[in-house]
Amino acid sequence: MALPVDGIATPVEGIDEPALARALAAIVSASRDVSRHVRSGALLELPETHGEINVQGEVVHPLDILGTETFVRAFDASNVVAGLVCEELAEPQFYSVDPASPSYLCVLDPIDGTSNADIAITIGSIYGVFPTEAGVELSGEQPFLRPGTDFVATGYVLYGSSTVLVLATPGRVQEFTLHDASGEFRLTRADMRIPDTCPYYSVNQGYEDRWDPAVQRAVQAVRQGRSLRYVGSLVSDFHRDLVRGGVFLYPADSKNPNGKIRVLYEAAVFAYIAEQAGGAASIGVGPVLELVPDSVHQRTPLFIGNAVAVEQIDHALRAGG
Ligand code: AHG
Ligand code: MN
Repeated sequence: MALPVDGIATPVEGIDEPALARALAAIVSASRDVSRHVRSGALLELPETHGEINVQGEVVHPLDILGTETFVRAFDASNVVAGLVCEELAEPQFYSVDPASPSYLCVLDPIDGTSNADIAITIGSIYGVFPTEAGVELSGEQPFLRPGTDFVATGYVLYGSSTVLVLATPGRVQEFTLHDASGEFRLTRADMRIPDTCPYYSVNQGYEDRWDPAVQRAVQAVRQGRSLRYVGSLVSDFHRDLVRGGVFLYPADSKNPNGKIRVLYEAAVFAYIAEQAGGAASIGVGPVLELVPDSVHQRTPLFIGNAVAVEQIDHALRAGG
């Protein structure tokens, strides 16, 4: 059994605000269920799909539906999560909450790396938690159009060779590992810092022909002396960078002029984690965390991980590559 560090054994025990602890407990509980589903692989009885296309223009995988339903049920029952933006839901959803308690707005990618779902390769869930702002009407997209600096907690769950949950709160990033027998997520890394060494870079090099010449030159510069690793699930590539050191790049290209990664439930969530862990995240022309999206499913270019490498890319892009 993992020993409690600083008295913290599970994600929720480290949280002083009871309402926030409750919101995180909903995420922890849904992740445990999704982990079980993911591990069943092809043996899982999945909801039927008929080639439906989601708001992203992508074919919906049955696991996307099951993951969304699992988190939605947990948020709806929590009494403290007032709303949700989810990769798989065209519009934000709102839930009733206890008016006497603080409440939160969550952003979620229930299954990140869907293209890896049927081939037993690591996928994950990505979450972010905003405090509900006083006096803001809880309807439509407006309550979610906020910068990542507003988050009070973000993180992800990785369904890999083990299931790990990473939780970032102000100044602190922790990793918990799911202990299957008890269903508990137990603390396994207490204070994660992105290493100063940066041995890896991750990018879909196959898209090189679609990049601007400036991006081509920036990637060419940043990859010197580094090994390429690319899982195709951002959640996995980011976890390697957080633990071992590295930098992840998803630039804009001719097919995706705004990039592919979504601002709210991907880029900003990881940017918040990276910054708490001493790393950096940029959209190429400034920090991800300062970006206020115009719409909840907005996309952005993303350069994230080791702070020196991210600055190297920014510098190269500013100089035209
Ligand atoms: P999704 O959330 O729809 O599964 O998207 C996954 C993202 C990200 O996780 C990954 O790094 C990227 O898509 C891979 O895209 P390419 O296949 O274009 O490289
Ligand atoms: Mn995703």
